Amino acid sequence: MGQVVTIDGPAASGKTSVSRELAKRLGWSWVSTGAFYRGLAYVAHSTATTLHDEEALAKLAVDKMWQVKMAHDHTRVFLNGKDVTDEISQEHVGGIASQISHFPKVRAALLQAQRECQKNSSGLVAEGRDCGTVVFPDAAVKIYLTARQEDRAERRAKDLGLSVAETVKAQVQRDQQDSSRKAAPMKVPEHALVVDTTELDFKQVVGLIEDHVKRII
Ligand code: DC
Repeated sequence: MGQVVTIDGPAASGKTSVSRELAKRLGWSWVSTGAFYRGLAYVAHSTATTLHDEEALAKLAVDKMWQVKMAHDHTRVFLNGKDVTDEISQEHVGGIASQISHFPKVRAALLQAQRECQKNSSGLVAEGRDCGTVVFPDAAVKIYLTARQEDRAERRAKDLGLSVAETVKAQVQRDQQDSSRKAAPMKVPEHALVVDTTELDFKQVVGLIEDHVKRII
């Protein structure tokens, strides 16, 4: 099993693009753990499972009708064999994912599959909210990526063609939910390097993190 680098942080902090590029430069595998929560949110919605039923959601989390598969471009989700990766990327699916992610049984049910991403890899870059604190507590390097709220919302609104004001509102709510929940709240892992990307461009962020990783590994 290879080493792990974790990149956690709030919504639209650039975790996905930065972690994907870092994995590419290191020649490692890459996984977005948000895809597990988004996938479950989408499956729950598709099967009309009530979003308040922790037991039913935990059962659905390990149902063979859906799978998460790592790829170099996206962490892909399949439901009954159909690729639903585009569908889970929508902002409202992120909102439902955040809503159901506070259930401890749901988190426990998704944990094993997330940890398995490390198997058979020469190294893994994993991004999410609790990668450095819960999923891979022994990760060799931990990063916490953040940026000014308005910048993050602007970035996400541009990507998805949404209004900035609406996106700020949705993000504030999601970040609040993700950082205040009792089970595995989003927080800066111990010994993590905190990178504020507000004044940096993409290349600078990836370069800075790559240098940090290479100094440690
Ligand atoms: O990173 P993302 O936008 O794809 O994540 C969607 C939601 O999934 C996020 O708001 C909370 C949840 N999530 C989580 O609880 N733990 C993770 N490691 C990743 C995502």
